[in-house]
Amino acid sequence: MIIPWKDAYCIDHGAIDDDHRKLLVLINDGIADLRGMAAIANIPPRLIRIRSCALAHFQREETLLSASNCALLAEHHVQHRIVLKKLDDLIGYVESGRAGRWGNRPDAQVVRALRSFLYGWLLSHLIEEDMKMRPSVAACVETPDNIIPMRAVG
Ligand SMILES: [Fe+2]
Ligand SMILES: [Fe+2]
Repeated sequence: MIIPWKDAYCIDHGAIDDDHRKLLVLINDGIADLRGMAAIANIPPRLIRIRSCALAHFQREETLLSASNCALLAEHHVQHRIVLKKLDDLIGYVESGRAGRWGNRPDAQVVRALRSFLYGWLLSHLIEEDMKMRPSVAACVETPDNIIPMRAVG
């Protein structure tokens, strides 16, 4: 794994950490694809899978923040929307380039944009921003019933 999971990343020792581990695997696989300059046809399905897992995860985090009356909820929701919009833009960018002038391998510009997004999202959101939730999550004595682990979502 290019970026390994660390215990220091733990937030709830439960569903949120499970999600983060799963997202970390997907992000690492995406970065590995880019290093290997995978065929461009592989990139949109990978990004769509990441988006789908991210969406389910963001909903879980927001449910948890809401259940713990955390003041971070509104700002965190905005940040999640920004990540999803960026993913949508990247998916559209790759698909339009693929349909146009790129041939069957991504060009250096798209590789840079994707790598920067994957690393940036991981470092700035999954690790730094989500860490701010830790005190609120710790204050939430029980995991609400509507926090469903990602593996149950698919
Ligand atoms: Fe998260
Ligand atoms: Fe988050």
